[in-house]
Amino acid sequence: MNKKILVTGGTGYIGSHTVVELLNKNYDVVIADNLSNSYQSVVDAIEKITGVKPVFEKTELTDQEQTQKLFEKHSDLAGIIHFAALKAVGESVEKPLDYYHNNLSSLINILRGALKHNISNFVFSSSCTVYGQPDVLPVKETSPIQPALSPYGNTKQIGEEIITDFAAANHFKAILLRYFNPIGAHPSALIGELPLGAPNNLVPLITQTAIGKRPLLKVFGTDYNTPDGTCIRDYIHVVDLAKAHIIALERMLENRQKMNVEVFNLGTGNGFSVLEVINAFEKNTGIKLNYVNTSRRPGDIEKIWADTTYANTELGWKAEESLDEMVLSAWRWECHLKESF
Ligand code: UFG
Repeated sequence: MNKKILVTGGTGYIGSHTVVELLNKNYDVVIADNLSNSYQSVVDAIEKITGVKPVFEKTELTDQEQTQKLFEKHSDLAGIIHFAALKAVGESVEKPLDYYHNNLSSLINILRGALKHNISNFVFSSSCTVYGQPDVLPVKETSPIQPALSPYGNTKQIGEEIITDFAAANHFKAILLRYFNPIGAHPSALIGELPLGAPNNLVPLITQTAIGKRPLLKVFGTDYNTPDGTCIRDYIHVVDLAKAHIIALERMLENRQKMNVEVFNLGTGNGFSVLEVINAFEKNTGIKLNYVNTSRRPGDIEKIWADTTYANTELGWKAEESLDEMVLSAWRWECHLKESF
């Protein structure tokens, strides 16, 4: 019998790509999502790609009763991958209570459900934001955690702590995955990043500018201490990222963990500047992007990229896709959106 995995936030950007990889590996998938920042049509797109329709449960995970019902209906879960969360850094500064309430109460409700039904094997979406601006680059999993720069970042730090304490008290297994900057879309161009409202992240803003949805892209800061003066990030293809979740899950299912709670950086190990991403986009699409240099965006860190040695050696996972493929797949997805909406 196939193992059943709960994917919270499974209609979202990283969640949907992970559901595809799970179905490709013959897991049964239950998606729980409140559709606050995604569409139910993503379930059909997943079916188109994989030939399998995952179970979809519209669930408000901040509601303890709804979450309990979800676990009662699906008490035979072999594992949980928890993506569901609010994720806009700027919005979190304006609405901190929404972020603390949403991201932490849903996590607690899910852990309560897992405890009650004796379900272990938990993968958590964390973020490189926990490192702030590291003193030493590339950043390792053992690098110091810095005070969070936003309520969003703080929910990731507190989330990691909640899971660690819970695991220690209950012999619960978890893997915390610290994402760097996920970009790109599935090669089918049937799923991708689909922000409701204005996006905040660089690549959706590039593709929306190129397709004419917005007049121009602002480059936030050209006076950073980097070779071309713009910020550096470790951009990772969302499909590479999705695959890491299945590897992490199987590490727990096969009892190969070295500790009850493990932490892995998920990046490529390469840093690219904002201008390098724009240049890669222009080179691969042949489109001249309309952009202007503007002042720094408050709260941006100057540069960060991952040391991926631990994920490479211990998880046996390595990001494979190039920046060229990342920006091209993001562009194909933007073009698909134009045709279908
Ligand atoms: N940028 C621009 N113009 C834009 C948007 C972004 O120049 O219109 C620049 C930013 O200044 C930054 C880079 O592009 O230098 C990447 O910005 P993103 O907003 O795409 O990504 P961030 O690195 O700021 O944020 C990401 C995730 C967050 C996470 C954070 C951790 O989106 O969820 O990494 O560092 F918290």
